[in-house]
Amino acid sequence: MPGLTLGDTLPNLEVETTHGKIKLHDYVNNSYTIIFSHPGDFTPVCTTELGMMAAYADKFAQRGVKLLGLSCDDVNSHNEWIKDIESFNNGHKVTYPIAADPKRDIIKQLNMVDPDDTQSPSRALHVVGPDKKIKLSFLYPASTGRNMDEVVRALDSLLKASKHKIATPANWKPGEPVVIAPSVSNDEAKEMFQQGFDIADLPSKKEYLRFTVV
Ligand code: BEZ
Repeated sequence: MPGLTLGDTLPNLEVETTHGKIKLHDYVNNSYTIIFSHPGDFTPVCTTELGMMAAYADKFAQRGVKLLGLSCDDVNSHNEWIKDIESFNNGHKVTYPIAADPKRDIIKQLNMVDPDDTQSPSRALHVVGPDKKIKLSFLYPASTGRNMDEVVRALDSLLKASKHKIATPANWKPGEPVVIAPSVSNDEAKEMFQQGFDIADLPSKKEYLRFTVV
């Protein structure tokens, strides 16, 4: 995905949203923030995705994470569409702002363009850290709706790795063991992880796969 990517600073754009004008850095402020784009208003998959984001809003708020949607229509259209989204999704309120991008400027600057249709946003999602840098990005085609459980899971991994020198292994879920970062020696790990850790016994006898619980 050329353009804005992991480790880059989010451009401090001023965007029109359903909650008024927002400067992206002011919105992020000191929080993790999820910015997620959609191909267009009044489209089926997007209606389910924005509704699911509304249903999951409490889970994100509990983690101190802000949400910002984006779709390439204007604010009037978004406000009409929100009525459908809330109606279809058991009345869960869309409490997060949705940015408008009728000129397709924002999606270019945020690297959310669908490579198959350069006039449309893909289903892109950036997690921005309190330092305004991109921590994680998903890029899905228009035909594949996102799984909000996976967004929460990935976020939990990011938040954990921001607090400890760990990484999360394949299919990790909160509560399961994590792996100790390769940059940490065994001696350091004994100090750092006083709860202990297990070293996988591998044919190489190299002690690089170490599990602990944090
Ligand atoms: C949808 O949201 O359902 C959708 C949007 C654009 C292309 C295909 C599907």
